[in-house]
Amino acid sequence: MNKTNSIGVFDSGYGGLTVFKSIIKELPEYNYIYLGDNARAPYGDHSFETVYEYTLECVEWLFAQGCPLVILACNTASAKALRTIQQKVLPIKYPNHRVLGVIRPTAEVIGNYTKSNTIGVMGTRGTVNSNSYPIEIEKFYPQLKVVQQSCPMLVPLIENNEHLTSGADHFIRKYLEELLGNAPDLDCILLACTHYPLLIPKLERLLPKEISLISQGEIVSASLAQYLRNHPEIVDKIGQQGQRLFYTSGDTTVFDTNASLFFEQTVQSKQVHLLR
Ligand code: DGL
Repeated sequence: MNKTNSIGVFDSGYGGLTVFKSIIKELPEYNYIYLGDNARAPYGDHSFETVYEYTLECVEWLFAQGCPLVILACNTASAKALRTIQQKVLPIKYPNHRVLGVIRPTAEVIGNYTKSNTIGVMGTRGTVNSNSYPIEIEKFYPQLKVVQQSCPMLVPLIENNEHLTSGADHFIRKYLEELLGNAPDLDCILLACTHYPLLIPKLERLLPKEISLISQGEIVSASLAQYLRNHPEIVDKIGQQGQRLFYTSGDTTVFDTNASLFFEQTVQSKQVHLLR
């Protein structure tokens, strides 16, 4: 058995690093490979077919690097590609590989964060239009009212490191006003995009104190830890030398500079050429 195998962590760009940071805090012993498809990010406004094709290509690349398990640390990819990969691709082409997303683990626990039974969900246009959150949350908390807000400008601002500027404030205020206007009784907002934790200081300044913000890092890492406890056959395949490798389809120098904002550690990436 090749015990140098890794857990793959994928995002369209940098956002998945906010989840990866929590994963390595919770599970530091495993080997990991992070892949950011920065050359083709953001995914938020791409069609279902395009997000599926890009995500599948990245997942297959991670499989080829020796990742028996891949986490889609991206809500847009989880919303638009995960189900098809799990149901149509894995059983036929990769029966021994697993791919997990971030929506289901979040939906499983979200009810614990609200007292008013109304939550806001901020995400990309792709995530919001897929309706994945209302559908998944309904299965666990049918009494919850879920009010969604699509925020198409936020990922481009964050990917370009413009999110702390006054220009970004305009869009953040606009999205919050729309959301609170549609759900005056909400008491928590799920940041349903792995890029958004970088906006937390700004969001906290703009929101009333009673409204809490939920980001997904700890939720996803706790869920992964539980998954690994339940699946020793997967754990058996993964090396435990604590290796962390970073790949981007974009420019490595730019990636390394920006990635450190999300990951809060120095990152040295290698480039991967994706074909499509
Ligand atoms: N981090 C991705 C998410 O969680 C961003 C999607 C995008 O590339 O637009 O949705």
